[in-house]
Amino acid sequence: MAVVELAGVSRQFGEGEGRRLVLDRVDFQAEAGEIVLVLGPSGSGKTTLLTTLAGLTPPSSGQVRLFGRDLGGLHPDELQTLRARNIGFIFQNFLLIESLTGRENAELALRFAGWKAGPAAQRSREVFLSLGIPHLGECRAATMSHGEKQRVAAARAFGPSPGLILADEPTASLEFHQGQEVIRMLHEYIREGGRTAIVTSHDTRLAELADRVLSLQEGRLSPVAP
Ligand SMILES: Nc1ncnc2c1ncn2[C@@H]1O[C@H](COP(=O)(O)OP(=O)(O)OP(=O)(O)O)[C@@H](O)[C@H]1O
Ligand SMILES: [Mg+2]
Repeated sequence: MAVVELAGVSRQFGEGEGRRLVLDRVDFQAEAGEIVLVLGPSGSGKTTLLTTLAGLTPPSSGQVRLFGRDLGGLHPDELQTLRARNIGFIFQNFLLIESLTGRENAELALRFAGWKAGPAAQRSREVFLSLGIPHLGECRAATMSHGEKQRVAAARAFGPSPGLILADEPTASLEFHQGQEVIRMLHEYIREGGRTAIVTSHDTRLAELADRVLSLQEGRLSPVAP
């Protein structure tokens, strides 16, 4: 069974003259254990693709299935729970709560995924430690650099041990060694548990990490020859 699947998914924004077809009848499947890289220029719809896979952007037409369940048929509360437990989303702009520390951000995600306060605190400590960033667990997000926020966003995504990671340009504007560090974290997390990742980027270095590389252009998703 595919972990995540799009069947004939289109998504448009706007109407009439301003209409923009961002996803155009996209078919896509990812299996357990796979790392899929989606390359595409700015504005090609990479973020829209990931938010659609996560059920955050409803498709204009077509079906999105996560772990075999059709998202179109779910109550918003069910969708929220399914997402919190099964998807770790590393957002392009992180979406950390600035006034909270790294660990508090991670704990909040764990609480949404149904963890009780004690185990959530313990798990978030473990994740920061295992990623080699315990110091960032104690810093407030507002005081972090871009590269630090990127690693904290990864820690938060990994916390509930989701089967699917969606990472939106996780190495964008990072220096080379910081980018390598984030790639290493992602790689370890995915390979460790037979998990699945869909990663978007402009960065072709990420191809090393991927089992499959796709290109998103003019709303269409197509394979890139190795
Ligand atoms: N909520 C929205 N309302 C209207 N237009 C939108 C919305 N979200 C995305 N778009 C448009 O869809 C297109 C694709 O945007 P998207 O953010 O998915 O691209 P991207 O490939 O992630 O770009 P980047 O590499 O710059 O992050 C853009 O033209 C954008 O303006
Ligand atoms: Mg984007």
